Amino acid sequence: MATRNVSRRMLAIGAPVLIGIAVLAALVGYRGMQAHRSQGDPALLERIAQYGRTAGADADAVTRGKYLAAAGDCIACHTAANGKAFAGGLALNTPFGKIVASNITPDKTYGIGAWSDAQFVRAVKAGVAPHAKLLYPAMPYNLYAKVGDEDILDILAYLKTVPAVHEPITANALPFPFNIRLLMFGWNLLFFDRTPFQPDPKQSVEWNRGAYLVAGLGHCTACHSAKNALGGDSDYLEGGDLEGWHAPEISGNGYLGLGKWSVADITTYLHTGGNRVGVAAGPMSEAVTDSLQFMNAADLKAMAVYLKSVPGSGATPPAPLAAGDATMALGRDLYRANCAACHRANGAGVDAMVPSLAANPGVQAPGANNVIRTILVGGRGAVTGSNPTGAQMPGFAWKLSDAEIAALATYVRNDWGNAAAAVGETDVARLRHPLDADTQMQPHPALSSGAKSVAPSEAQ
Ligand code: HEC
Ligand code: HEC
Ligand code: HEC
Repeated sequence: MATRNVSRRMLAIGAPVLIGIAVLAALVGYRGMQAHRSQGDPALLERIAQYGRTAGADADAVTRGKYLAAAGDCIACHTAANGKAFAGGLALNTPFGKIVASNITPDKTYGIGAWSDAQFVRAVKAGVAPHAKLLYPAMPYNLYAKVGDEDILDILAYLKTVPAVHEPITANALPFPFNIRLLMFGWNLLFFDRTPFQPDPKQSVEWNRGAYLVAGLGHCTACHSAKNALGGDSDYLEGGDLEGWHAPEISGNGYLGLGKWSVADITTYLHTGGNRVGVAAGPMSEAVTDSLQFMNAADLKAMAVYLKSVPGSGATPPAPLAAGDATMALGRDLYRANCAACHRANGAGVDAMVPSLAANPGVQAPGANNVIRTILVGGRGAVTGSNPTGAQMPGFAWKLSDAEIAALATYVRNDWGNAAAAVGETDVARLRHPLDADTQMQPHPALSSGAKSVAPSEAQ
């Protein structure tokens, strides 16, 4: 489903519900929060006192914090394009409008330089900045809530060592009523699960480490879990839509998830941005480039082991479309002419460079957004230390009609053992405009008069 539709639906359903909740919240609970504001959360203050150190007190904390900040990908959201590291200013598109990420450099006026340890932990894990400013969940505090306080303090120790940037950020551009921060009190009541990470004693240390990273700093569910009408997470790791992309299911499900990827396949993908099957593009290529490639092998493996154990959706493949189907035949012809040079006739691609379309769970995902958009505008795979060039695919919007792209998408989703719902012309039409891929190339007038006389349809 295109994000635009989701946004409109969210606004329609979201606004009245949130207003109602906000009124309720204001009546019932806000006073409690105000009390915390003046005294500080006593339990949190006590926990922090127990560490017997303040952030930055031991030298290793900075090294650990740098690694953990990379795992949490703080820099990706908190740095504007060509902006100074951690100085904020990047506008994030959410269904509720644009939310601008904050300056989290140690500047005392515009950054976090004047904050206490407890204030920082509370902002990152509870979404409440000093002066009881409620943060929007575009900052994934609802997921970082699963991160241990020690790890957050190490991140603070590291942030205190980055250059302070004495610059404010431009304000958020949220439409009414979402510009009222108090609404987030209601959101938190409904969707914010504050329970800390609970290790499962029946599982291995490795599994628990993976679960901790996936749920917390990795914030994988931010993209890979579906969102309900108000932006709360649902259907754990069973796939979600964002900004016109689909983040596929990454459970152990053998059809749409990672059931057929080995632990090494997953680790390689997260570290290099590609493996024998897939290449990470779009938001996932950013996650790999900015964050995952810097994680150590043990942590990546732990996440892979954990992901494969998540039961997931239980989805099973439908019967593939018959090869004799007219759409399939058109798709096959177009594939041989336009795609086979790179993706090969058998759909196997080229290891870690051109993704395999055969047995690729993402290609068979519901909605087919990634397949359609990639054919329309092409794409670029992750650029990493181990793959500095990154794989690239040209777009075909200029050349192929909506019906042709639909046939191609249907074909690649149903040959070589793949099986998934057919893609309709309207599914392509819906993505063309938002992707700025409106125009199929118009032949130059001088050419078109000449071309006409040799067009096969007219030569008959
Ligand atoms: C997906 C994007 C995203 C990621 C990842 C992210 N943040 Fe944020 N963060 C934001 C946004 C957006 C805001 C502003 C929210 C608002 O205005 O309500 C914010 C606000 C904050 C604030 C409050 C600052 C203030 O002045 O109120 C802190 C502290 C913070 N982030 C720390 C972190 C740390 C530490 C990490 C990494 C562990 C991190 N963030 C990762 C998007 C992100
Ligand atoms: C900002 C959104 C975002 C975040 C955060 C994110 N992903 Fe992804 N992920 C995606 C998208 C979008 C794709 C599809 C990319 C493509 O088709 O090239 C994807 C693809 C993947 C794939 C390949 C799946 C397939 O079937 O091809 C794996 C594995 C994966 N992500 C794991 C993770 C893990 C583990 C995390 C957390 C550490 C994570 N992702 C965090 C958006 C995200
Ligand atoms: C010049 C080589 C080249 C050609 C030609 C090409 N591709 Fe690609 N394709 C790539 C590369 C490299 C990627 C990985 C980058 C990306 O996903 O954006 C890719 C990615 C894809 C993906 C995304 C797979 C995933 O894991 O989500 C699909 C689907 C796809 N191509 C289909 C096609 C189709 C259909 C055609 C013909 C119309 C085609 N490609 C033509 C090189 C090519």
